[in-house]
Amino acid sequence: MRAVVVRRPGEKNPVEVVDLPDPGHPRPGEVRVRIHASALNYHDNIVMADPDTAADHVPLADGAGVVEAVGDGVTHLSPGDSVVGRFFPTWQAGNPVVDHFGTTPGIGLPGYAREIVVAQAAQFDRAPRGYSHAESATLTVAGLTAWSALMGDGGIRPGDTVVLLGTGGVSMYALQFAKLAGATAIVTSSSDEKLERARALGADYVLNYRTVPEWGDHIHQWTGGGADLVLEVGGPSTLPQSIRAVRIGGKISMIGVLTGISGEVPTGEIDMKQLRLRGVLVGHHQQQREMIRAIEGSGIRPVIDRSFPLDELGDALRYFTSGSHFGKVVIDI
Ligand SMILES: NC(=O)c1ccc[n+]([C@@H]2O[C@H](COP(=O)([O-])OP(=O)(O)OC[C@H]3O[C@@H](n4cnc5c(N)ncnc54)[C@H](OP(=O)(O)O)[C@@H]3O)[C@@H](O)[C@H]2O)c1
Repeated sequence: MRAVVVRRPGEKNPVEVVDLPDPGHPRPGEVRVRIHASALNYHDNIVMADPDTAADHVPLADGAGVVEAVGDGVTHLSPGDSVVGRFFPTWQAGNPVVDHFGTTPGIGLPGYAREIVVAQAAQFDRAPRGYSHAESATLTVAGLTAWSALMGDGGIRPGDTVVLLGTGGVSMYALQFAKLAGATAIVTSSSDEKLERARALGADYVLNYRTVPEWGDHIHQWTGGGADLVLEVGGPSTLPQSIRAVRIGGKISMIGVLTGISGEVPTGEIDMKQLRLRGVLVGHHQQQREMIRAIEGSGIRPVIDRSFPLDELGDALRYFTSGSHFGKVVIDI
């Protein structure tokens, strides 16, 4: 079967198309899935660049396809089911239980840049009715992260105001979930053209973080006292403005590392505004099921910017890294 592996981590062209042996029949507790689509996430760049990534590692955490066979004891899936991957196969519900990616496909385990997977059945769940495989693949990471940040700990309610940074995969899902929940959505971007597209998707207020570097103060003023929740995908360089943007007693969901993994934190402002900052790591199985129910009920569809065939994964990664995308970049397999 065809696959793409990380051959040269850290180099300009880290991946290579290879032929791997067919993985065979599923054993007890396993499923055999024909993968039809995947999607790119920022962490894929980190995996590609990490010198510790094993040679021949199969990347990509997003995956969707069709079950071909199930092993003994598998009850939640049957042959013919359309399925979508799970980021944390061992986290069912409730409080976080993992602080590593050891059991995550595409990071600690072989991922979905391949045609056929035989793996623990817990790695997959039913995909939304009516979704294409490419659409389903975008749910594993971006969809679930946006859902858990807004609907889980974020606990947004109708009338709340949420701030979404940039127009990448997580933020564009979050925009749609925020509107579904009856919230006011503010979107920032480096591109006026992308902001217009965000408006068309339902954003109530938009602003360019390049031309308005003090965007947090601006949002504080526009909202008349601050937003209820900020989805912080930027990290150290954007956090100070996110703190400005949020209201007294508001929440910041710490999600992303686009500007790095450590930096100065204005702790005094956090104290004075009595904010709640919480790290978010994708989400758990129950949230994934709730998200899929909401998608089926609402008809929300992911924003897919562009798709590439598996053989062109290297080109897809370069395109994704350039930052010109709006929403998700998917891989057809
Ligand atoms: N914690 C988790 O569970 C989790 C899950 C998924 C993703 N993440 C992280 O969240 C971040 C976003 O992921 P993604 O998949 O949505 O990435 P993505 O699709 O690549 O989107 C990134 C977008 O963020 C915007 N951006 C870049 N630098 C920015 C800055 N300084 N200020 C504001 N916006 C900026 C850009 O939007 P414009 O082009 O519109 O400017 C860019 O297109 C990444 O760091 C990723 O690792 C974390």
